[in-house]
Amino acid sequence: PRTKFYEFNITEKKITRLCSTKSIIVVNNQFPGPQIDVEEGDSLEIKVNNFINHNITLHWHGIFQNRTGWFDGPAYITQCPIQRQRSFVYKFDVVRQRGTLWWHAHITFLRATVYGALIVHPKQSFPFLRPGEAKPKELVVMLGEWWKSDVLDVIGQAMLTGAGTNLSDAFTINGLPGPLYGKCSQQDTQVFNLQPGTRYLLRLISAAMNTELFFGIANHTLTIVEADAQYVKPFTTPSLVISPGQAITALFTTDRDPSLTYSMAAHAFASAPPFIPFQNTTTAAILSYASPPRKSFPRFLLPSLPPSTAGSAFSDAFAAKLRSADRVRREFPLPASPAAEKFFITVGLNVQSCPPTMNPNISCALPVPGGGRFGASMNNVSFIGSSSAFLKQHFDFIHTGEDPSTYTTDFPRFPRPYNFTASPAIANQNAPEGTKARIIPYGATVEVVLQGTTLLAPENHPIHLHGFDFYVLATGRGNFNRTRDSPAFNLVDPPLRNTISVPAAGWAVIRFVADNPGTWVFHCHLDLHSLTGLDTVFIVEDGAEEWQRLEPPPKDLPPC
Ligand code: C2O
Repeated sequence: PRTKFYEFNITEKKITRLCSTKSIIVVNNQFPGPQIDVEEGDSLEIKVNNFINHNITLHWHGIFQNRTGWFDGPAYITQCPIQRQRSFVYKFDVVRQRGTLWWHAHITFLRATVYGALIVHPKQSFPFLRPGEAKPKELVVMLGEWWKSDVLDVIGQAMLTGAGTNLSDAFTINGLPGPLYGKCSQQDTQVFNLQPGTRYLLRLISAAMNTELFFGIANHTLTIVEADAQYVKPFTTPSLVISPGQAITALFTTDRDPSLTYSMAAHAFASAPPFIPFQNTTTAAILSYASPPRKSFPRFLLPSLPPSTAGSAFSDAFAAKLRSADRVRREFPLPASPAAEKFFITVGLNVQSCPPTMNPNISCALPVPGGGRFGASMNNVSFIGSSSAFLKQHFDFIHTGEDPSTYTTDFPRFPRPYNFTASPAIANQNAPEGTKARIIPYGATVEVVLQGTTLLAPENHPIHLHGFDFYVLATGRGNFNRTRDSPAFNLVDPPLRNTISVPAAGWAVIRFVADNPGTWVFHCHLDLHSLTGLDTVFIVEDGAEEWQRLEPPPKDLPPC
């Protein structure tokens, strides 16, 4: 196998969007950051040099990191951050996977500008091509969110006020808001000059921070062929829904009237009331295959997308169409029933009480008796980061018997019972803070029921697991009820994913085999939620056999 080398320099750069200029954190002076292209089976070595005044880590979203958890990237989970003027080399193999993935910063709110695509080109030909058919041309599109203010101020402000973050000022396509944000953004439009009569493979990634998005291309049908870098049975759709963290790969053909100009566009999916005022924000990019190529695009067609505040039916129907391709289940057999390790985990928002001992600078202005602040939790534990990395502590515990000092392993398998989706929301919304993980024996089949709550407000939660892909057996609305809902489990061809959107006031059931030793964070990919506690950590035990063991820590692993 071949090793591909990259050097990523983290620096600041002044950049103007929506007529306002600010300094952002970038990689190699690029925004979005550089695209990584590897072939399945390659190894990657990425040297990250930190030249900014802030700690950083990078995460390779969807990469399995089999036995190489040291290079997974979430700050204080698998590594201490790379301090300023320091470097760290991420080294891992890209085996048994192929497709559209990405990388991003994994510390505070930095992934708002620090992200890029990671494309794993398959060894075998695409299963969706007809015999003899040429490879499609490829188009990588990253959706994002843009704030005019400094993103560290955005999250800092949210933490201080105890409320949410301010809404972003624009959604973006490849870092550009596009022509629909008024005069200020005309020049910040991504233009794709395509060839007529050609099949394109669109690799679409959502790097948005806090919002799920609807996406489509005017007058062009999408054929979905892959979700989160796992092939699905192809199906056609005029538009799609994508959550932060997810990737969808789709085919389309430039076979419409070439004298017209088309656009691809995305706008918010506000999954539940109270609806935030996102309706008028649409990011768009120009798509043209006129000949000779045009320079300006005074008029263009927009796709018709599901409405922001009434998209749940579309979203549920889209999720139900995702079925893994047969090749996927040959490579990753469906975990057998019943699962050895069962979890029932609530995912939701809380109103946190404000103990008198709390930092007096944090305001507790939410309208509840005694005041409160915004929080999020899993099984009513609001995760609070450790001051040192879980993985090193776990490794030391295995090899020296020294107990971990900054986390405990008593994350509850089940929530305390209450009506999770009561409407109006029930009282007692507080979730105590904790740094809690759970140990899973190596090789066990794990089933997790993820149950959305309505304690503060219902909302979709895109839940992401590091270190594994998982099969999504079913999703539904309301409180999960095993007797009623288990007959609906798809045990034939469920999709295999790394991020699942748990429907607002609803549930999802996932299964995976814990065959990768390490400490794997399991969290909401809405960054406001993960930063306010919607996280936990699965510690997959380091088995005794040589092949079950984690590799030893790298020499340059950053200290805390
Ligand atoms: Cu895409 Cu924990 O991250």
